[in-house]
Amino acid sequence: MVVLRTVPAARKWVQAARSAGHRLGLVPTMGALHEGHRSLFVEARRRCDRVVASIFVNPLQFGPGEDFDRYPRSFNLDCKIAKEEGIDAIFAPSASEMISEPPEINVSPWRMGELLCGVSRPGHFTGVATVVAKLFNILQPNTAFFGQKDAQQAVILSRMVQDLNFPITMVVCPTIREQDGLAISSRNKYLSPQQRERATVLYKALHHGEQLILAGILKPDRIEAEMHNVIKAAKGVELDYAEVVDSLSLRKVKKIEGEVLLAGAVRLGKTRLIDNLIVRLAKKRQKV
Ligand code: PAF
Repeated sequence: MVVLRTVPAARKWVQAARSAGHRLGLVPTMGALHEGHRSLFVEARRRCDRVVASIFVNPLQFGPGEDFDRYPRSFNLDCKIAKEEGIDAIFAPSASEMISEPPEINVSPWRMGELLCGVSRPGHFTGVATVVAKLFNILQPNTAFFGQKDAQQAVILSRMVQDLNFPITMVVCPTIREQDGLAISSRNKYLSPQQRERATVLYKALHHGEQLILAGILKPDRIEAEMHNVIKAAKGVELDYAEVVDSLSLRKVKKIEGEVLLAGAVRLGKTRLIDNLIVRLAKKRQKV
């Protein structure tokens, strides 16, 4: 496994892989690798001949007062994990290699970036889309792999690929959970043992919403109210949002049908956690 630190070094490696006829997979990460990332690596290995993982804690996607400085950084352990999973190259540029100062041009989702997490993290998805567009241009993968845990990110980046004509196939892999349902995230490291116990309430609320929908309750307001109640009843947990939206447009739905996304965020002290579930309703049989 090679570690590429600069854009020219990365381009050279990519060119060699592509001219040898290899199908190239990219797994973009911010490091602090965990089981969720491992599952992306496994899928990338399965589908591609060569896999590059990027490790870059992207300053553009953190707002003022957010956790950029304390975001977990564990480069040596990350390299060990990537190597174990058969990753061929790590692209780990410095901030000055990746970000022009001052940045003048960005890639910005419109309304989709202002919904859900965008309400409490203004500018976050512009930071994500800008850096991922740069990674796509530098590393030119055939296929890129993202986690369903960041559902809004996955939807926005898929629209970016579509709207800006990147010749890249997007693969979104299932959320990996702890045994008690908590979605695995690098930010779980911030939780005290007591907060860790309480953190499962987000999954419980989403799961409760899902069960109600599957039992035939199809009013989004009712489902949202039920999810809010579960979260509000939990000690030490602050509700950010819990919504029922269309899984492709992220817009609010009037009635639940087809496929919807139940998405939520909570705060435990300074830590903000997100999670989501996709709920698919079987289409009703047409009467003949
Ligand atoms: O999901 C992440 O870790 C980041 O948002 C990403 C896609 C690597 C962009 O910085």
